[in-house]
Amino acid sequence: MTTEAENGVKSVLISEEEIHGQVSAYGKFISREYRGKKLLLVGVLKGGFIFASDLFREIEIPCEIDFVETSSYGSDMVSSGKVILKKDISTDISGYDVIIAEDIIDTGITMSKLKELFQLRNPKSLKIIALLDKPDRRTVDFEPDYALFTIPDKFVVGYGLDYAQKYRNLKYIGEL
Ligand code: IMP
Ligand code: MG
Repeated sequence: MTTEAENGVKSVLISEEEIHGQVSAYGKFISREYRGKKLLLVGVLKGGFIFASDLFREIEIPCEIDFVETSSYGSDMVSSGKVILKKDISTDISGYDVIIAEDIIDTGITMSKLKELFQLRNPKSLKIIALLDKPDRRTVDFEPDYALFTIPDKFVVGYGLDYAQKYRNLKYIGEL
């Protein structure tokens, strides 16, 4: 470990190169699947903002972007089980093929609630893409449509993910 921002990080779980490889592959996949469609990528703030913006730049077809902000954690490592929508998108998604880009699926509560809400708004289609999936932690019946990496039950930071708002600016996914 070298920089001050990395203090407390035990090890690198997924490197910058591995992340870039998968983000690029999924960008190409989405470009093929959604050709000719009215595509909207929705990034989930704050944790998903780096993943969403990198994925957005790997998409080679016309694509719009919007953001929601959800919150359920406070500064704790344990989910409160309640999902708060702190910021909504400004796009009317009826007629859009929507992909929601989230940093991590943990208990599954956040994304199952957000998916329910978005479904009520009549998008043409709705898929969830997650950078990370921690299936061992699931408390509700929810699976993302696409997950770039499946990880064990460890608390991870970096590439947008935080602990108490820190570590988001690491270029890799690290274990605390
Ligand atoms: P869920 O509702 O339990 O699936 O929680 C999802 C949210 O919890 C994610 O969007 C993250 O913000 C946060 N989260 C879950 N696991 C981790 C982790 O290992 N590191 C950082 N944030 C996490
Ligand atoms: Mg999040």
